[in-house]
Amino acid sequence: MEVIVTSSPAHLAGLGADAVLEAMGRRARPTLGLATGSSPRGIYAELGRRVREGEASLARVRAFLLDEYVGLGEDHPQRYRNVIARDLLDHVDIDPGRVRGPDGLADDIEAECVAYEQAITRAGGIDLQILGIGSDGHIAFNEPGSSLASRTRIKTLTRQTRQDNARFFGDDVEAVPVHCLTQGIATIMAAGHLLLVTTGRAKAEAVHQLVEGPISAMWPATALQWHPHVTVLVDEAACARLQLAPYFVDTFEHKPDWQGF
Ligand code: F6R
Repeated sequence: MEVIVTSSPAHLAGLGADAVLEAMGRRARPTLGLATGSSPRGIYAELGRRVREGEASLARVRAFLLDEYVGLGEDHPQRYRNVIARDLLDHVDIDPGRVRGPDGLADDIEAECVAYEQAITRAGGIDLQILGIGSDGHIAFNEPGSSLASRTRIKTLTRQTRQDNARFFGDDVEAVPVHCLTQGIATIMAAGHLLLVTTGRAKAEAVHQLVEGPISAMWPATALQWHPHVTVLVDEAACARLQLAPYFVDTFEHKPDWQGF
């Protein structure tokens, strides 16, 4: 696991955009996994800038969302399909018709989850998956207690996650849906490269568990310790609990130029 302690939001966004473009450049028809929420926004803005200024193109990219709330109407501003349109798709050259998320309005939820897994497989798998992390250690919406072997399915959000996300729903925790559809941990683990990005003191315990904790369903992100290619981008506040932080800083300072992500 490579942990990079970034020096500013711009530094984090630049490295994140570099990692995405590097992975997307490796295949003729690359596939990108998209997280929503606050954490990847700087990276999405930087990708938008590079595409707008002709420095990069994502025109060949197909994309899959990590998760979706169940039951939010088509036009609800917090439906993740709409959030990702505002945060990324409106600013880059990805064809919106080649972006798919689990359908939280599907009549047959179980069939939708199976179809979603099949669609990812048909696309040849996900080359790079962007991830955030919840303060309770969730990745996508795999809450504590999730099977580390799980695939796309319905989950119940914890009170903690609904409280954390109430800021997007006018600070009304009751307005945050109780259910979501989410890629499972095994779905995420099948991606070629995992890029987890997070900032702020509120995530420090989760980052400590992710990197240094024992692997446990109580902290679902710890499953990433089994993945051979993980990059974690954090700020200083988010690594306040990391015993290995000085080692990671030293490692990044001495990273060979040829190594890339
Ligand atoms: C969103 C997702 C979640 C978030 C996590 C952190 O698609 O999968 O796991 O990444 O809840 O959210 P933020 O980035 O808003 O702190």
